[in-house]
Amino acid sequence: MKENIEKAKKEFEKLTITSLEELENTRINYLGKKGIITNFLSSLKNVEKSEVKELGKLINEFKSEVSNKLEKVKNELEEQKLNEKLESEKIDISLNGTFRQIGSANAIEKVIEELEEVFISLGFTVVEGPEVECDLYNFEMLNLPIGHPARDEQDTFYITDTMLLRSQTSPVQIRTMLANTEKSPIRVVCPGKTYRRDNDDASHSHQFTQMEGLLVDENISLADLKGTMDLVVRRLFGNVESRFRPSFYPFTEPSVELDISCFKCGGKGCELCKNTGWITVAGAGMVHPNVLTGCGYDVKKYNGFAFGFGIDRLTMLKYGIGDIRVLYTNDLRVNDFNRRDN
Ligand code: DAH
Repeated sequence: MKENIEKAKKEFEKLTITSLEELENTRINYLGKKGIITNFLSSLKNVEKSEVKELGKLINEFKSEVSNKLEKVKNELEEQKLNEKLESEKIDISLNGTFRQIGSANAIEKVIEELEEVFISLGFTVVEGPEVECDLYNFEMLNLPIGHPARDEQDTFYITDTMLLRSQTSPVQIRTMLANTEKSPIRVVCPGKTYRRDNDDASHSHQFTQMEGLLVDENISLADLKGTMDLVVRRLFGNVESRFRPSFYPFTEPSVELDISCFKCGGKGCELCKNTGWITVAGAGMVHPNVLTGCGYDVKKYNGFAFGFGIDRLTMLKYGIGDIRVLYTNDLRVNDFNRRDN
C-alpha cells in the first residue's frame, strides 16, 4: 500500500491543471466520496495494526498536499479569469465620444438674469404675473380707461371681452400694490412675456419680452429714477451715457424715454443708432397719482417711479442680432451667444 500511495503522489505531482473544470474533476478524483485518497483511507482497516499509524500519516500528508495544491490552483485560475474579463471589458477612454450639443439659456433669459442681478443688488425683488390678464389690471387701473386712445397702440389677443394676453408687464405693478395690504414701500422688477397684435417683421413680434420695475416710497424724485437707470445701463453696457427725453404714458407723470449713448459708435452716429448717437432702451416715469390711489396708496405720503425695459431690444443690441424673430425660433446661434459669454 505504501508504494501505491507514493506512486499516486508522484502522479498527482505531475498533474497540470489548466481550467476550473479540470480542477473540479481533479478534486472529485482525489477527494471525492470514491476518490483515490478516500479509498486509501478506507483500505486502512485492512492493514496490519502496526502499519496503520505510518500509513495514516502518509495518507493525511498526501491529502493536505492535494488540498493545498487545489486551493492554490483555484486562486490562480480565478485571478486569471478576472484579468481576462477586465481585459475584454476595457473601455478605451482615448476614443472620441459622440458629441452632443448641450442646451443653454436663451439670450433673452441671459439679459433678464443680468438685469435681475443688478436690481437685486439695489434691494429689488423679482416678482412675476400671469400672461393671461384682465382688462382691469392691464389697462383700466393703469389709467387707461375703456375708450382711451393709448389703448390702440396696445391692441392684443382677447380671450373674452375682459380677459386678454397682457400687452405689457405693467399690470404686475397693480398686482404688487394690491397684494401689499400694509401699503408699505415697494421695490420690484417683473420680467415676462407680453403680446400685441403686430405684423411680425425684423423689429416686431406678436410675442415679446419686457421687464417692469416699480419703486414706491416716501419723497422719491425723478433724480432717483435717473440715478437708478444710469447705474443699471452702465452695468449692462459698460461706459455709456444715459439721458431722459419727455414722453407720454398714461400711468406715469411725468413720463420719459430712457436713451443710452450708442455703445457702438460712442455717440458719433452709426447705422445701429440711426445716426442719432442715442438708443432708446426703456420707458419710465413717476407713478401717476391715479394709479397709486387706485391701489390704495396714500399719495400724500407715498410716491414712486416705474419703468419698462424692452428686453428683446436690449438683447438684440447687446448681441448684435438683427431680427427679433430669431429670438423666438430654435436657431441655435442664439444659444451660442451664451456659450461665448460663459
Ligand atoms: N408699459 C410700457 C410699454 O409697454 C412701458 C413702460 C413705460 C412701463 C413707462 C413703465 C413706465 O412702467 O413707467 O410701452
